[in-house]
Amino acid sequence: MQERHGFKSTFGFLMAAVGSAVGLGNIWGFPHKMGSNGGFAFLLVYVILAALCGFVVMVSELSLGRRTGKGAIETYQILSRKFKWLGWLATLSPFLILSFYCALGGYCLKYMVLNFGNLINAGFGTNGLSGDAVFKTFMLNQTEGVVFGLIFVLLTALIVMGGIRGGIEKFCSVGMPALFIMLVIIIIRSCTLPGAVEGLKFMFVPNLQPLKENFLSVLATAGGQMFFSLSLGMGVMITYGSYLDKKKNIHKNAMIILVCDTIVALMAGLAVLPAAFALDPEGKTSGPSLLFVTLQNVFDNMGTVGAVFGIVFYLLVILAAITSSISLLEVIVTHFCDKAAAKGKGDKRKVYSIIAAAAVSVLCILVCLDGMGYSGYWVPGRVLVDGVWQYTATYNDCWLDFFDMLSEGIMMPLGALLMCIMIGYELGPDVIRDEIESHEGHKMHSYGFYKLCVRFITPLLMLLVLGGQIRDFFI
Ligand code: TRP
Repeated sequence: MQERHGFKSTFGFLMAAVGSAVGLGNIWGFPHKMGSNGGFAFLLVYVILAALCGFVVMVSELSLGRRTGKGAIETYQILSRKFKWLGWLATLSPFLILSFYCALGGYCLKYMVLNFGNLINAGFGTNGLSGDAVFKTFMLNQTEGVVFGLIFVLLTALIVMGGIRGGIEKFCSVGMPALFIMLVIIIIRSCTLPGAVEGLKFMFVPNLQPLKENFLSVLATAGGQMFFSLSLGMGVMITYGSYLDKKKNIHKNAMIILVCDTIVALMAGLAVLPAAFALDPEGKTSGPSLLFVTLQNVFDNMGTVGAVFGIVFYLLVILAAITSSISLLEVIVTHFCDKAAAKGKGDKRKVYSIIAAAAVSVLCILVCLDGMGYSGYWVPGRVLVDGVWQYTATYNDCWLDFFDMLSEGIMMPLGALLMCIMIGYELGPDVIRDEIESHEGHKMHSYGFYKLCVRFITPLLMLLVLGGQIRDFFI
């Protein structure tokens, strides 16, 4: 049988796992969700949830994957009687996420090109238009949107084709340190702009009022964000865990991934929010406008240097997004590769990568054509009245948001909830401890805490997050 090549080094694994975790969720989602959910209060809830749920689910997924050495679908089939089907949920969701993830990745490609145009004074720059106008024009240009989206899908597929060791590990080992350096450069620039202090105050001055006013909403948003940002509840960490050997310390690595992801989210906040506040003291800190409109305005105002910063910034976002999208595609590809290997069909990775990417492309094209709702395509919650789109729901007003809400808001917390029930009550939490301690010298010091969380605290919080998301969806 074909040998299943896993990660070569712990560093490579960490870069791949942190690469999966650090993505648009950190750079795009975190700052604007923090912006519209009370700043500091959101941060506090987020950190508590990461400790009580994120850590538990991360350790569990990595351990389950390493135990079976198989992708998400097989892992659940091997381990559980009652939750055999759960792997399918975990494999279906990456399609949904990839659809809008690649669309957004494509937008970043476009913006990098745009800033390059500005640098060399070419016609494909912003041509003196405001950030708002540039964004709208791009959203209405469906062909361009689709082309950039598909380029992003293609780049993702090319790396996944190279396999874990030759593709993903190699790319992330170089890409992640590079991303970190670029992020530091952008933070220095952003925090030294006149007026940047307001943004810093907004992030770090304690204010718990929003929690009193709308606790469930903040909890639900922070919970969804936490799952998304840590790449949980979706089979990614099961898949990456299955490529780990017994010598690697899951407990320690899970902690590192969690801490790195949170630090990068905060750093992204520092890169984005002070600049946004400096330029726009009213603090229009929500949605797509933050990353594509507000920041582009910041770069435009800085002249030629601005174009250089723009290129560096969007390149950074593209890197972050690609190291995440490859992890999502890998979930699907691993499943089919394992199946083929079990049937003795040999290494079919390249073919499966292409097929999976083609399937993703279909959904991605839909999201790109919609252009964040600018180009007007039907979504649940939107009706055409006398030629004008009217919204009957507040949340899902374009395909992108709809897929986002479906995956991040419902499928991830649900998947994680069921996984905790499976571990806590069907398999017993000692499966996880045994796996972690299976190599001499590895101790699961937090076992008491883990047991309590996986049985009671995490499922309860998941239920609250789910409830809050569903409520926000329908109201
Ligand atoms: N964590 C990534 C981000 O923050 C997105 C992501 C990658 C993801 N893989 C995932 C989200 C798996 C959920 C599940 O942008």
